[in-house]
Order: sequence, then structure tokens, then C-alpha cells
Amino acid sequence: MTESTGDTNANKRAWDELYRDTPGSVWGSQPIPFVAEFLADIESDLSSESRLLDAAAGEGRHVPVLLRSPGIVFACDASSHALEKIAQFNGSVQRHQCDLAETPFADDFFDFISLIDTIETLPNPDVSLDEMHRILKPGGLLLCNIPGKEDNIAEVAMQPVGANEAAASYLYQGTYFYRFYEETEALSLVKSCGFEVQRNEIRHWEEEAHPGFREYAHEHTSRVLLLRKPMTVST
Ligand SMILES: C[S@@+](CC[C@H](N)C(=O)[O-])C[C@H]1O[C@@H](n2cnc3c(N)ncnc32)[C@H](O)[C@@H]1O
Repeated sequence: MTESTGDTNANKRAWDELYRDTPGSVWGSQPIPFVAEFLADIESDLSSESRLLDAAAGEGRHVPVLLRSPGIVFACDASSHALEKIAQFNGSVQRHQCDLAETPFADDFFDFISLIDTIETLPNPDVSLDEMHRILKPGGLLLCNIPGKEDNIAEVAMQPVGANEAAASYLYQGTYFYRFYEETEALSLVKSCGFEVQRNEIRHWEEEAHPGFREYAHEHTSRVLLLRKPMTVST
């Protein structure tokens, strides 16, 4: 397991309270542009039978992007208050409240999973990535982003936590866990969980203020990874 300097349960509670206490949406309705961009490139591999999961979906700002692709769309998050907000704008999504590290889905279930703006917030991301690997079909794809310290939000209103400064772990506003990854660390993390790296690219985008969380418009820079669960090797 990767070194943990945060408390997973306290962190999940903090996110849930943010959604509970924020009228309307924290993240807004605009999806991050790279999600549609990457999905468009793999759409020809999907069919109406495909299963797509937005993992740690929050209020579901990326769900409409998944719904434009062929297939059946699922969304999961640890926060019941976040999932309730998804229902307000779309009833055609199967919602599940669960921990990313222990989902209710069968082995080899999904063709595609998106895990957006989340890995950097997990104290133990390897456990969640192991679970994403379990529920993906062999050959299935995981789209995620893993920012490094070049992200404009890195270290802003963040206090370092843990003994190992090189691990770049923080609490944002004294509450929300963040860790930033250099490229070698990000690749080592996903490979240690059994994924092959299909694409490894940097993207920049702008976001409006997030009420109750980050009260000003800001820019992000992040590494975007398209990962593949290898086909089982027959012996
Ligand atoms: C920064 S938000 C990103 C939400 C969404 N992916 C988006 O881009 O709008 C991180 C999300 O991860 C969820 N989360 C954090 N830890 C989790 C865990 N262990 N299991 C499931 N969800 C978790 C939080 O509830 C929150 O909705």
C-alpha cells in the first residue's frame, strides 16, 4: 500500500458535508474538456451493451458526457448528498453509494471507467485503483487524471501532512487530503495496480469558482492517463 498520511473516513465525511452544506452544485455543470475529447477517441470500441462508470462522480458533471456515448451509464461516489444532486438532472443513470475501494460491482463488469479529479484526493489510491482494475473487463479502459505540483492549485491554502516531504501530501483548508505526483510516481502507481498506459498527456483547463470550496475562477494543469486492463494471458 502507498504511504498514507490522511484519514480516508474523515476525508469522505468532509466531502459529504461539503455537498450537504452547499446549495446547488459545488463543481458546476461544465465537464472538464479532456473527458469528452478522450471518450470520442474510443467511442468506436463501445456499443449499446457497453457499461460505463463515472467513479467518484461527485454531482455528476461528467455523466452527460458518458451518456452521449453508446452504453449503459453508472455513477458511484461515497457521498449520498452528491449522488442526490445527480438525480436532479438525469434519471437515466444507475447510482451507487460506495467506497471506491469496495464497490458492489462484479468482476470484469465495465468497459470504461472515468475517475476524474479524484486520485490526488485519496490517501490510499492504490486500493481504489486495484478495485477499478477488478471491475474493469480485460481490455477495458480507465480514464483518469493525476496532477503534479505544476497544477496551479498545488500548495495554495494547503498545509503539508506526514513525515515524508517528498510525498507532497497536504490538507487543503485543513480538511481535504491532496497529494501531487511527479510523472514517475504517477506511472509507478498505476502500473503497480496492473494497468497498461495507453496515453499519457498533459492538459490545461479553466474552471469557474467552486462555491464553498474554492471561491475564485482558476486554471488547472494535470497529467491525463488512459489506462488499459490487460487481456488475460491464456496458458
Ligand atoms: C474532487 S471531487 C471530484 C468529483 C467528480 N469526479 C468531478 O470531477 O466533478 C472527489 C470526489 O471523490 C469522492 N470520494 C473521495 N473519497 C472517496 C472514496 N474513498 N470512495 C468513493 N468516493 C470518494 C468525493 O465524495 C468527491 O465527490
